Amino acid sequence: MAMTSPHAGAARPYLFNDRTVEGYRRAMAAATERVADRIRRADRPFSGVSPERLTPEIAAIDLERPLHDHAAALDELERVYLRDAVYFHHPRYLAHLNCPVVIPALLGEAVLSAVNSSLDTWDQSAGGTLIERRLIEWTAGRIGFGPAADGVFTSGGTQSNLHALLLAREEVRTNAGAVPSRLRVITSEAGHFSVRKAANLLGLGPDAVVTVETDDERRMRPAALARELGRCRRAGLVVMAVVATAGTTDFGSIDPLPEIASLCRSAGVWLHVDAAYGCGLLVSRRRRHLLAGIERADSVTVDFHKSFFQPVSSSALLVRDGAVLRHAAHHADYLNPRRMAERGIPNQVDKSLQTTRRFDALKLWLTLRVMGPDAVGELFDEVVDRAAASYALVAADPRFEVVTRSPLSTLVFRYLPQEGPGRKLADDANLYAREALAASGEAVVAGTTVDGRHHLKLTLLNPETTLDDVAHVLDLLAGHAQRYVDDLAPVADHSEVTHVHS
Ligand SMILES: Cc1ncc(COP(=O)(O)O)c(C=O)c1O
Repeated sequence: MAMTSPHAGAARPYLFNDRTVEGYRRAMAAATERVADRIRRADRPFSGVSPERLTPEIAAIDLERPLHDHAAALDELERVYLRDAVYFHHPRYLAHLNCPVVIPALLGEAVLSAVNSSLDTWDQSAGGTLIERRLIEWTAGRIGFGPAADGVFTSGGTQSNLHALLLAREEVRTNAGAVPSRLRVITSEAGHFSVRKAANLLGLGPDAVVTVETDDERRMRPAALARELGRCRRAGLVVMAVVATAGTTDFGSIDPLPEIASLCRSAGVWLHVDAAYGCGLLVSRRRRHLLAGIERADSVTVDFHKSFFQPVSSSALLVRDGAVLRHAAHHADYLNPRRMAERGIPNQVDKSLQTTRRFDALKLWLTLRVMGPDAVGELFDEVVDRAAASYALVAADPRFEVVTRSPLSTLVFRYLPQEGPGRKLADDANLYAREALAASGEAVVAGTTVDGRHHLKLTLLNPETTLDDVAHVLDLLAGHAQRYVDDLAPVADHSEVTHVHS
């Protein structure tokens, strides 16, 4: 491949410094304008592009031949990214736990990447370190932890959960000296898969994660937890943590935290609360009580990029007793020698799994400074209200079967073809409806499996989504599903074919 070799000094204008600020201003304004234009014009959340169509366009770009021009690169970006991106700000994006973002957080994003602080050590961030610490203190206060609490920002719920379980494992190792193959983590059937992933990464055995059953509303059954704790004790197994979920990914269900906390307390077991989704309740004036008991946890995961309207990534791990964070600490001579800590120089790397780390906290900081916590809580309350109204809509609609009423903002349901040969096609019809809808770009919804059957899922995180939007999406889904049934039901009536959705 031919290379374009730059002549000496040609690259210098691209460096961001005191001599290039005008170029920076122009480039940022151009980028902001492009995004603003896309957002203004997006009449659907997705273009419906297929990987087959987009892959060759991206493959055809010669990375050895630069364009030497911001505008030209942005033109190209329109074609390979902006045109076909999935737009979470659109009211008919109803799929995963992605929220529209607030403007103060975007301001933070622009500042933090330009200044480019790294939050590992004071000598790479100074005030950034203190701002992150204030936000950790603030979040811990909202949880109801005492003055010994601490924590750190992370890249997301997956890392926060891993970090929490690492600390729990080290506590058990230090106090009980158990071997990894005897360690167990208990969570509910509706817990997040990152718990299993974390157990794997921590070198626990393949049987380390034990799931206990949930009730009709998909909340962990305390009686089942009590049984499992007893079974483990009798079998000589050491339960290193119970992971309760405050906002399960599919159902938004909140495990009964007070009962679980009491069981953990009597068994002397670490309680981790995965509030990646439910953390928005920390700022809700109407629903904070749904998190009652969270203050009794040993550690808590919060994902500001799920329910605080923050851009990815923005998450944190909080612990009731900050001293436990030492389990992830390492003192490197070149970076954070012990003498720094002894001199009281604040280093967040002492608490983090990461070394170089983005100043993601700045986004939340500016959000709180511009809008305040109540305003964020109001946005979250609004989507929870809308989800309740959407539940009523689906529950009253004979075309659908709904699973549970979420205390947060998901809605899991399925299209149920009328009694007859079409009924057998329900699974594939729901799968087909989801894909056909995404391909049309009219709306994006998610799917999941409940009790072995394919279901559709809406995750409402956008206060701009109206009940009419939801009703429209339901009609579109029903239309796609019924078309599938109409096309295949005559075949299904006469044979036992396996159906393949196209
Ligand atoms: C309950 C729960 N925990 C953890 C995670 C993982 O968070 P992240 O995607 O930020 O790593 C998710 C993601 O959806 C989640 O729903």
